[in-house]
Amino acid sequence: MRRIILIISLAFSISNANAQYNDMTIPDTLSGTTFNLTIKDTLKQLRPGNQTITGSINSNFWGPTIFINKGDVVHMNVRNNLNDSTTIHWHGMHLPAVMDGGPHQIIPPGTLWQPFWTVANNAGTFWYHPHLHEMTQEHITKGIGGFLIVRDPVESALALPRKYGVDDIPVVLTSRRYTAANQFVTQNSAYGDYMLTNGTPNAQVSLPKQYVRLRILNAEIERGYDLGFSDNRTFYIIGNDGGLLNVPVAVTRVKLMVGERVEIMVNLGSDPVGSSLDLKAYNAGQPMGFPGAEPGTGGQFGSLLNNINFTVLHINVSAATSGAITSVPATLANNVYWTSADATINRTLSITGNAPNPFYFDNTPFALNTINKVVNLNAIEKWTITNNNVVGHAFHIHDIEFKIVARNGSTSGVGAYESGWKDVLYIPVNQNVSFVAKFDDYADPLHPFMYHCHFANHEDEGLMGQFVVNNPLGINSNSNQIIIDNSFSLYPNPVQNNLFVKFTNTDNAVTPEVYYITIYDIVGRTVMMLPQPEISNGINISSLSKGIYYVKLMDKLTKSVSTQKFIKVN
Ligand code: C2O
Ligand code: CU
Repeated sequence: MRRIILIISLAFSISNANAQYNDMTIPDTLSGTTFNLTIKDTLKQLRPGNQTITGSINSNFWGPTIFINKGDVVHMNVRNNLNDSTTIHWHGMHLPAVMDGGPHQIIPPGTLWQPFWTVANNAGTFWYHPHLHEMTQEHITKGIGGFLIVRDPVESALALPRKYGVDDIPVVLTSRRYTAANQFVTQNSAYGDYMLTNGTPNAQVSLPKQYVRLRILNAEIERGYDLGFSDNRTFYIIGNDGGLLNVPVAVTRVKLMVGERVEIMVNLGSDPVGSSLDLKAYNAGQPMGFPGAEPGTGGQFGSLLNNINFTVLHINVSAATSGAITSVPATLANNVYWTSADATINRTLSITGNAPNPFYFDNTPFALNTINKVVNLNAIEKWTITNNNVVGHAFHIHDIEFKIVARNGSTSGVGAYESGWKDVLYIPVNQNVSFVAKFDDYADPLHPFMYHCHFANHEDEGLMGQFVVNNPLGINSNSNQIIIDNSFSLYPNPVQNNLFVKFTNTDNAVTPEVYYITIYDIVGRTVMMLPQPEISNGINISSLSKGIYYVKLMDKLTKSVSTQKFIKVN
């Protein structure tokens, strides 16, 4: 009986694959320095029959592409309109831990979270996604996430395809398994059965007859992709996780594991208008341990897409655009990378445990209240991660971009395609990988950054750890912070839209530094969260309805907390 069902479902998938393609969604764009992102439950018609309950940001599956410029201060207004708590993590961004959106930055339902930071990353393709511990798989499966694209002068000076949705195309790869009622399976399932490319089933796109740039992100739960084109043509890797490579790398295949990004250029200039080709996953014949090479078509680790080659994007070639890019630049960037010799601290991490038991780092399950590593501010460290179990993993670390310096102890083991700044690396079974990174700019002895396997099911199960960056010279060389301890008042009070904080027992003119402001209502529900807020211009509370609220303020130096009440009128 089970076999018959499998044959029927396989036949369905084959006929589905031949069915008409759907035009791939190109996510909307947001640009500027202030971004309003609303996380919500939505519905999407993904298959015949019932709509699927999805989650999204400003959309109905996967959110807007956010364009930001290196050097700008960007402000995020993240409103959680789900019925659940969640978090939003800015994957790959170098920023203060308290802005990072990891598992500690829980945004309760109905709350506005307002992180901000100065964009320090190089031009590249980053992304944002939920990161609530033990809920990450569910929230990512729903479709909550989006691209963050950083621009900078180095990238802007190059002749690269840069017309979003025309010759510069975001491509987010994922797959889903459905219940009989067309709902996403969010648990006990590592792999989807049906591709969604930018949230579109059986996706196709028209691309002009010239060099085009694809910014490809693997946003799967666990599956890896070995990507290439259906005629095996050569294409060029111009960037990976942290931005541009120094020189383009010519390949016919590239492996892309969960969380990784690759920017490629491919030449369609010799393809007749009206012809087509496919971007495919060449996932047949991968070794055991490759995520998605497990046998079988069903169950927790099987899938209809395991061990086969399949199309991820059908490409129809259309007329060239004016101003088409007709070549790949010979050189791209001048990154100067760390080497092993730069590192003054060496750390090791071992991935332990065997299925069906959970995987851990160094046999230690993740615990939200345990800091696993303390890194000194400005330290250059070499981390070596060893995979001692049965499946490959995608290791990711927050805060920094790193340079992979060795695979299995050898520099020559590092692929040219992964030669740029990275924040995710793949570790096959029984191998080890070393990276070097500098932990600069942001120290916070209280609030940690995470490192983890980016397979959402693995991180949810506890293959995650956390580190703080500690400034050995003290929190801040400026010692003017003041213990707040009930020493602030709010004005005007009652207030309409802009609430000011006044410190009442400061002994000099320096404003104390605020670590965190939380505003909650009369029944104790959090309504606003402001990490390290800039309060001199007041707090914009225009989104609050009228009523009584409390401001809970945490002092940066002492982390002591005090609370004051205010009344919001109209
Ligand atoms: Cu993309 Cu810790 O995350
Ligand atoms: Cu893993």
